[in-house]
Amino acid sequence: MSIETLTAAVRNIPDFPIKGIQFKDITTLFQSPSHLKELSDILYEKYKNKGITKVVGIESRGFFLGPQLAVRLNAGFVPIRKPGKLPYKVIEERYTKEYGEDAIQIHEDALTEDDVVLIHDDLLATGGTMVAAHKLVKKMGVKKVYINFLIELEALNGRSLFPEEVELETILKFEI
Ligand code: PRP
Ligand code: MG
Repeated sequence: MSIETLTAAVRNIPDFPIKGIQFKDITTLFQSPSHLKELSDILYEKYKNKGITKVVGIESRGFFLGPQLAVRLNAGFVPIRKPGKLPYKVIEERYTKEYGEDAIQIHEDALTEDDVVLIHDDLLATGGTMVAAHKLVKKMGVKKVYINFLIELEALNGRSLFPEEVELETILKFEI
């Protein structure tokens, strides 16, 4: 299956959740068994030889594919969640996103400095969410971090917020 076919399965929703935002609806991509399998295979092929020990998924859309990718990579899965959701001691980062202010948290004992981490989310827009997630993971002493998104909105240039040495990969690219 081609990248064009996968890209065409993403539904554009104008003015959601607020006016002026064009929402990338990935439910239309995920509801197709063949598209879902193809996405899973692409992710697995990209990361199977990187020695990943933990996949970190960002609430909530990073939870769709994060855990199954972790299973395929023989890695653990660690959630980054919105405030007030994780029950144990947390580390927090605040950030500005494409629409509004928010914060994310991770359990303080979820990662060790020996982990090789893949942070996964569905969409790179401004990059604010992933910058905060990357900071959380680095605060825990992790030395090697990979970053992956299903979708990149290239016009917003969120990619530029990350240092050169960070290996950031996206699968489906849209201008906006
Ligand atoms: C969306 C999307 C990414 C983030 C991208 O999540 O799923 O996580 O925004 O935006 P950014 O690059 O500008 O930070 P959202 O916070 O809307 O929550 P959700 O995943 O729970 O729907
Ligand atoms: Mg999200």
